[in-house]
Amino acid sequence: MLLILLTLVACSTVLWAYLRWTKVRTYWEKRGVPFRPPHPILGSLTFLQRENPAIWMRKLYNDFKCPYVGIWLFWRPALVINSPEIIKRVLVKDSEVFRNRFLSSGKTDPIGSLNMFTANDPIWTTIRRRLTALFTSAKLRNHSAMTSAKAKDLVERIRRDNAKNIPFKVRDLCTDYTTDVIGESAFGITSECVKNGDSVMRGVTRDFQEFNLHRGLSWSSIFFIPELVDIFRFSFFPKHTIERLRKIYRSIVTQRGGYDKEIKESRDLLDILLKMKQEAASENEEMSEDFLLAQAAVLLLGGFDTTAATMSFAIYHLAWHPTYQQKLYEEVLALKKKVGSKDFDLNDLSELTYLNCIIKETLRLFPPMGWLDRIASQDYKIDDKLTIKAGTPVYLNAVATQIDPQYFPEPMVFNPDRFLSENERDITPYTYLPFGEGPRNCIGMRFAYQTLQQGLSSIVLNYEIQTLPDTPKPNDVQVERQGLFLMPLDDKMIVKCVPRE
Ligand code: HEM
Repeated sequence: MLLILLTLVACSTVLWAYLRWTKVRTYWEKRGVPFRPPHPILGSLTFLQRENPAIWMRKLYNDFKCPYVGIWLFWRPALVINSPEIIKRVLVKDSEVFRNRFLSSGKTDPIGSLNMFTANDPIWTTIRRRLTALFTSAKLRNHSAMTSAKAKDLVERIRRDNAKNIPFKVRDLCTDYTTDVIGESAFGITSECVKNGDSVMRGVTRDFQEFNLHRGLSWSSIFFIPELVDIFRFSFFPKHTIERLRKIYRSIVTQRGGYDKEIKESRDLLDILLKMKQEAASENEEMSEDFLLAQAAVLLLGGFDTTAATMSFAIYHLAWHPTYQQKLYEEVLALKKKVGSKDFDLNDLSELTYLNCIIKETLRLFPPMGWLDRIASQDYKIDDKLTIKAGTPVYLNAVATQIDPQYFPEPMVFNPDRFLSENERDITPYTYLPFGEGPRNCIGMRFAYQTLQQGLSSIVLNYEIQTLPDTPKPNDVQVERQGLFLMPLDDKMIVKCVPRE
């Protein structure tokens, strides 16, 4: 009897799975959406931990060359959008429908789930409004002197490393610099990693950069299968690193007189967070330490690595393209002659238009977060043929439009002139989105530009960057496979810095 019962249960389960799978498998076919047949378990996610998602998105784009492609996150249907017109509607025109990201860090990970990047409405709106205060023009102007001092440290560090014949490992040194800049401006503590080769904050960012199998699986789950996050207790940030950051955070709060000390003027992120807590308390609302720490952690994580990767790729391209480097050098030298012994401030940096072209072109080829995700909060008409259901994740494939020859002729050629003002206006809108777009775009964009402009202009003014033998061409640099963003992985990404006369 028991055997019959078990056999019946097994047969029903197999039948259920078969019927369900048939429904899943035919989902996009029935809606007339192009797709690659899904794997019975992983759906379209067979590339995870083997290939960077940005590279996968680019291949998908080239294989189909159509406005959208259907994919599956395990058995959940999702849509990759390639058309700039539809991208515009999702990010901007109909952003009310697509206000939230699909990715989620679950309930068991407060620091991972409460931060501005992962949080959804209504929490997100409050955080975004409050933290915008950190990135006003006045605040950026105040940061100028600090960023410029850090850039000088960088020039000095290269001189010292040169004297000791230490090779310029591009990503390492750029990360030392961005950790100092963001660590100091966000947390208000002295971080002198460029000067000393290490710092407490660099310990934290080094941990953030490490992607082993567990962290790779955690991120894959957070970004593509959030249902698994709580089951496996995955976390957005490595747990031991958060405890380190918590210690740093607590010691600064104590140094500043604790949570109750009145904040008259918010100088940095820490002040803004303390003020947020005080204002909430005055409305009888409790704002936990985890909530505040989550914001500090995501600004550090969102800022240091994206900026360091961009700076690394820019330096590396300059080494391989001496003509553009010379053009940049002449621009920076002319500005230096104009301002004299004074350091570059925010106004001066705005004159370095060719430097901006170089940063933009670098971000076109290597956008650290090139694919953007959102989730539809209601049924949404994509076009006359397709309406997606509420809850469908969508991925905006800007990493691929940025190298489509239709929009960027000879796309794999590094050519900053594309972004000269007379050429930039011809770029098709919504084909170039390295900082995203709409209400959820990158909050730190201007801060990133300032950090990049100070660092790159100082290096180019003082050194001629040259290639070294046996190093890969820029487009052949290996990128992260276990991490999900487009970050360089190559130990061979080294250059030589020859002091200028
Ligand atoms: C070159 C450097 C950077 C790049 C390429 C970059 C790129 C991006 C992109 C593509 C997004 C998603 C936008 C969207 O979904 O529409 C984003 C979001 C974000 N970025 Fe950046 N970023 C950079 C630097 C920074 C810096 C310096 C900070 C902070 C100090 C920062 C903090 C954030 C935060 C908090 C978000 C989430 C915003 C939200 O969801 O409201 N980023 N960034």
